[in-house]
Amino acid sequence: MKNKATLFGRREILKGIGSLAGYGALSSLFGLPSLLTNAFGGENNSADSLRERAARKGLVFGAASGCNLLTRDKEFAARFAEECGMLVPENELMWNAVRPSPDGFNFGPGDCLAEFARKNNMLFRGHALVWHEALPAWFHRTVGDQNAEQILRSHINKVVGHYAGKTHSWDVVNEAIAPWQRQPDGMRDTPWLRLLGPKYMDISFRTAAAADPKTLLVYNQNHLEYDSKGSEACRNHTLNLLRRLKTGGTPVHALGIQAHLTSEDGKFNPQVFRKFLREVAGLDLKIMMTEMDVIDRDITNDIFTRDKIISGKYEELLSVALDEPAVIAVLTWGLSDKYTWVRNYFPRRDDAAVRPLPLDESFHRKQAWHAIARAFDQTNVSPSARKKAMIP
Ligand code: XIL
Repeated sequence: MKNKATLFGRREILKGIGSLAGYGALSSLFGLPSLLTNAFGGENNSADSLRERAARKGLVFGAASGCNLLTRDKEFAARFAEECGMLVPENELMWNAVRPSPDGFNFGPGDCLAEFARKNNMLFRGHALVWHEALPAWFHRTVGDQNAEQILRSHINKVVGHYAGKTHSWDVVNEAIAPWQRQPDGMRDTPWLRLLGPKYMDISFRTAAAADPKTLLVYNQNHLEYDSKGSEACRNHTLNLLRRLKTGGTPVHALGIQAHLTSEDGKFNPQVFRKFLREVAGLDLKIMMTEMDVIDRDITNDIFTRDKIISGKYEELLSVALDEPAVIAVLTWGLSDKYTWVRNYFPRRDDAAVRPLPLDESFHRKQAWHAIARAFDQTNVSPSARKKAMIP
């Protein structure tokens, strides 16, 4: 699948063209494979996939994707199965996909992805049982004080039960911390908080554990990565929440760190992030990097330089994260720039194509792919020292 371009031939052509800027333009124009990046970026040129590299270190690499993408784009599906050891549905298990009506459940799209994972010997994870976004139109006119708990319990019981025995982990609650909303304990002002109070978290995790005792139950959170006042507040409130849940005997097994990286959220500080990971691990929790990508809207348009900066963001965070034995998995939110939420949600001001993920739009490996590969290869944590990815 990887382009066997004659490196020597292409390198001579590019030398004749001149600047790296010319290379950058060409590489996007003609889809020149990242193999050429190796010529200029000094990247290792190994065949092993991210799936293989991660597994060698007792880790799991995966990505989010969708049923339509993997069904219709056969080349993409093949590259996804080659590079990924875990699949998480991007949208198919959200309330607005699974719940067409107050009494109805639609598992078709989710089943499509669970089957793709099974056929390709991949782990499957669920996302997200409780979130303030992606709620169906009927939700706000149907769910109230009298029925909120029953509706929450029945949703989780039915959905987790449907995939019981097939699911590595579930993002049980997603993005419940939002300190900028000035709610007590930094909790996000969501319908669930308003209707049930903070105990909605305990209800959610306990119901999920009862529905599938063998799946890893994850609390998933964003804005945890940077040395900024906002991220510091998110880290502190998230730690307090996890302590409260654990102290109360609520079955939470892991923290999901979304890791949507950007260029504007302040600077990454290895010591600050390492200390946070240690504190989470100290609560006897595993850690998953659940939604990595780099929002590149404010990074230079020159492709070679932009790819280099993006790969540096992956590498600086993962080189810290993977040295924490509690970190068990790394997932990107999409695998190829051809299919990324960043295009619609964070479009570049210059209208240039976004480049947030490990593979380019032609599924060639980019510098970001090589950065993730190096992070797996170079972690000092041995497989035996790493926390196990599965529930015992
Ligand atoms: C996004 C999906 O990628 C979009 O397709 C959808 O329209 C909105 O949600 N954090 C999350 C994910 O936990 O569920 C979000 O995914 C991205 C941010």
